[in-house]
Amino acid sequence: MKVNTSYWPPEQVQRGIQEAAAVLAAGGVVAFPTETVYGLGGDARNSEAVKQIFAAKGRPSDNPLIVHLAMAEDVLELVERVNEVEKKLMSAFWPGPLTLVLPVREGAVSPIVTAGLNTVAVRVPANEIARQLIEQSGCPLAAPSANRSGRPSPTLARHVKEDLNGLINGVLDGGATGVGLESTVVQVVDNQVHILRPGGVTREQLQLVLGTRVQIFKPTPIEEQTATALSGGEITSQTNSAQPPRSPGVKYAHYAPKGDMLLVTGDPNKVISFIQAKAVDAQRRGYRVAILSCSEHASYYKAEAVFDCGPLAEPDKAAQSLYALLRECDEQELGFIIAEGYIEDGIGAALMNRLRKAAGGHEVVV
Ligand code: TXA
Ligand code: MG
Repeated sequence: MKVNTSYWPPEQVQRGIQEAAAVLAAGGVVAFPTETVYGLGGDARNSEAVKQIFAAKGRPSDNPLIVHLAMAEDVLELVERVNEVEKKLMSAFWPGPLTLVLPVREGAVSPIVTAGLNTVAVRVPANEIARQLIEQSGCPLAAPSANRSGRPSPTLARHVKEDLNGLINGVLDGGATGVGLESTVVQVVDNQVHILRPGGVTREQLQLVLGTRVQIFKPTPIEEQTATALSGGEITSQTNSAQPPRSPGVKYAHYAPKGDMLLVTGDPNKVISFIQAKAVDAQRRGYRVAILSCSEHASYYKAEAVFDCGPLAEPDKAAQSLYALLRECDEQELGFIIAEGYIEDGIGAALMNRLRKAAGGHEVVV
């Protein structure tokens, strides 16, 4: 059952929002830009729409979706309660790239959205097209990133079409997204804020607003084991964890390019010679090699492709371009990808999290 995928270009965006909102209200699924990555939206209350999202993405059914709202006030329709810490976060960071995991109000969204959990993840995106689309559709929009599961998230409408053409009802083109990585997912437990997934809002920003330390939740060994077992292979919904992980998505090997990938971190003085030697070695073994380099080092490398990801002091630039570059590596059939690490401060924490996932845990510290 092939679906005809409408495409609304940037110059027709107002008409596109109207038509896409009508499609959503009628139970269809449409991809739209947010400030982080493109999302694939459907009415969170409509199980048929939500099923279509999971099917189009090939997403395991135990990985719940984020619900997107036009306005912070609307959250009260979806959740049981919002405490003072959560309120503080909403007023500081919404609209913006922060997702809060809250106790779901029974019957407020399809149980498929929450994968049967008693919590729901909610955010208010800071993107005018997204805001208008949600408002005009009149639906809370369940929206995961608009990629096939396991592929890098889309930062351009073209990426969505590459992955989902013929599987969804439409794509609204709002140009390149801003942050380039997904939202930060947090949960407040006993008044402590835990980061379940680092993202567009940094730990430092959260700490500044809260005046307290914020923990980055580390997956348990069993979750990591499952992720390793799944990396590179078909992603299934199997997990051998007795207890459900805090953020189900963390156990899956995400964001992976088709090629093998190695992340190199450590002493900047040693990084260049180590990477160049690895590149030569991979070439000898018949690989076409890509190097994802900081601006400072890019001119020192020789490989089939050397991508300048931006200055070491500007990890936000690397964050913006990472997913598009991983797709580019696939397109150019660059079978061995070597990436330099960035410092794990600010957005650098989310960037390094995604680089590690893309590399399937293959990291060398020099
Ligand atoms: O920036 C973003 O967050 C993008 C845009 C489209 O908004 N969306 C996105 O959705 O990245 P997705 O589905 O790719 O990632 C959602 C993450 C997953 O790691 C999932 O496990 C987690 O949020 N999540 C969703 N509901 C949850 C819940 N109730 N408890 C814990 N984690 C949850
Ligand atoms: Mg995703």
